[in-house]
Amino acid sequence: MNLPEHIAVIMDGNGRWAKKRFLPRMVGHRTGSENLKKLINDCDDLGLKHITFYAFSTENWKRSQEEVSNLMDLLREYLDDHIKNEKDNNFKIDFIGDMSKLAPDIQEKMVLVRKLYSTHKGIFVHIAMNYGSRDEITRAVRKISQEVRDGSFEPEDITEEMISSYLDTSSYPDPELLIRTSGEMRLSNFLMWQLAYSEFYFSDKLWPDFKIKDLLEAVEAYNNRERRFGGR
Ligand code: FPP
Repeated sequence: MNLPEHIAVIMDGNGRWAKKRFLPRMVGHRTGSENLKKLINDCDDLGLKHITFYAFSTENWKRSQEEVSNLMDLLREYLDDHIKNEKDNNFKIDFIGDMSKLAPDIQEKMVLVRKLYSTHKGIFVHIAMNYGSRDEITRAVRKISQEVRDGSFEPEDITEEMISSYLDTSSYPDPELLIRTSGEMRLSNFLMWQLAYSEFYFSDKLWPDFKIKDLLEAVEAYNNRERRFGGR
């Protein structure tokens, strides 16, 4: 099997998973978070190099205050668990998105986790937190304009490669495969620049039910597609 170097995942369906069981939405998120941990270790065993998960979008702030605050607490727990169990984990981890809008204690935990895990040898996990593609591109355009204004380069010098190098994902390859769970077929402002040539795979499984065997099915479907990048 030809394994992609980088897979991007939109984890959708926690709410519906809980609803089906007459449980609060938060139980769905919590089960989703446990599933995330398990899947990361399974992907590490598989030998995948990079995986990016959409955990919280720039639009998710519009959810009820209670749900936002519960998700932030879940993130705190998730980070604390990573700090405590650093020795048992083999993967590297970092975060994409605008961290500056997150609570200071969360930002501190993120910096610490990134640092603690930086010497690990396994899969590189990228968690998108307060991430939106339009926001990411807007931040990049601001930085580039600033440099043009400072005289570092001319507008004519701006290339696609240069723009990529100003994005949060500048240090690793674009995903070859995008997976979205729970049957929704939308990009929802996720990695729009980076997914320009990627294959899309939609699974009907709700996120807490999405296991490594489902991910392998997605990889198999990807293997059966012919990628032409606009050529013949
Ligand atoms: C989508 O389900 C899921 C989210 C908005 C949150 C994703 C978070 C996790 C999987 C938990 C891991 C979290 C952290 C903080 C590391 P939904 O609520 O949109 O589900 P629905 O569409 O069925 O209502």
